[in-house]
Amino acid sequence: MAITRADVERLASEYAAKHPREILRLALENVDNIAISFSGADDVILVDMASRLRKGVQVFSLDTGRLHPETYKFMELVRERYDIRFEAMFPDHAAVEKLVREKGMYSFFVDGHHECCGIRKVMPLRRKLATLDAWITGQRRDQSPGTRLAIEVIEDDKSFGTADRPLLKFNPLAHWTSAQVWEYIREFEVPYNELHARGYVSIGCEPCTRAILPNQHERAGRWWWEEETKKECGLHAGNPIKR
Ligand code: ADX
Ligand code: SF4
Repeated sequence: MAITRADVERLASEYAAKHPREILRLALENVDNIAISFSGADDVILVDMASRLRKGVQVFSLDTGRLHPETYKFMELVRERYDIRFEAMFPDHAAVEKLVREKGMYSFFVDGHHECCGIRKVMPLRRKLATLDAWITGQRRDQSPGTRLAIEVIEDDKSFGTADRPLLKFNPLAHWTSAQVWEYIREFEVPYNELHARGYVSIGCEPCTRAILPNQHERAGRWWWEEETKKECGLHAGNPIKR
C-alpha cells in the first residue's frame, strides 16, 4: 500500500478541496485492497466515478434484512449496470435470531436503535473491514451538523483499524453538498433509488427511515423518534465532533 498512516494528515489537507474524483483516484491508484461502502442511496455517485477510473472496483452493502424493496432493486440495478465486484454483507443469523426471540422485530422503537444496528450493520461491517486496507464512504459534512461536521476526506480509521492493522477511510464527498451530488447525478445520468422521487433524502432501513417535508433536515427522516445527537448507528462511530 503506497499510502500509510503517516501520510494521512498531509494528504487530508492537500486534498481537502479537490474534486471527489481526484480523491477517488488517489485512493484507487494507491490502495489495491479497497472497497466502496454503498448504502443504496445517493452515494451511488461514488460507484459511478470509481468505475470510470478502475474496472472491477470492490463495492459492498450491508444487507440488514430490513431495507426497502426499492433499495434492493436499486442495488441490483447498480450491480448490473457497472463493472464492479459487488458483495452483500449479512448479519450473523444467531445474533439476529436471539434479538428477535427476546425483543421482537421492532425493539428499536422501544429501547433505541443501537442494539439492532450493532447486530445488523456494525458487526458485518467489522467483518468486512477486517479484510481490507481501506474503505470509501459517501459521508458528507452537510448530512449531519451534529456528527459529521469535522470529517476529513482521508482519515486514519481508529474505530475499525488497530495499532497493528491500520485502516484508511476515504470520504471523497465530505466537502460536497447534497445539491452538488444531485447535479452530478443529473449531469452524468446516474441511476438513483426511486425512493428519492418520493421525498426520501437520507435512506437507511425501512422501519427507521421516512420521507421528509420541505426544509426539514435530511437526518430528520432517520430514527426520528430519537434525539438528534444519537442519530449515528455505529458505522461512523469514530467521527470527530466539532464544537
Ligand atoms: S448511517 O450511518 O446513518 O446509516 P448514511 O446512511 O448517512 O449512514 O450513509 C453514509 C455512508 O455510510 C454511506 O454513503 C455508505 O458509505 C455508508 N453506509 C451506510 N449504510 C450502509 C449500508 N447499508 N451498506 C453499506 N454502506 C453503508
Ligand atoms: Fe435495525 Fe433500524 Fe438499525 Fe436497520 S436502521 S439495523 S432496522 S435499528
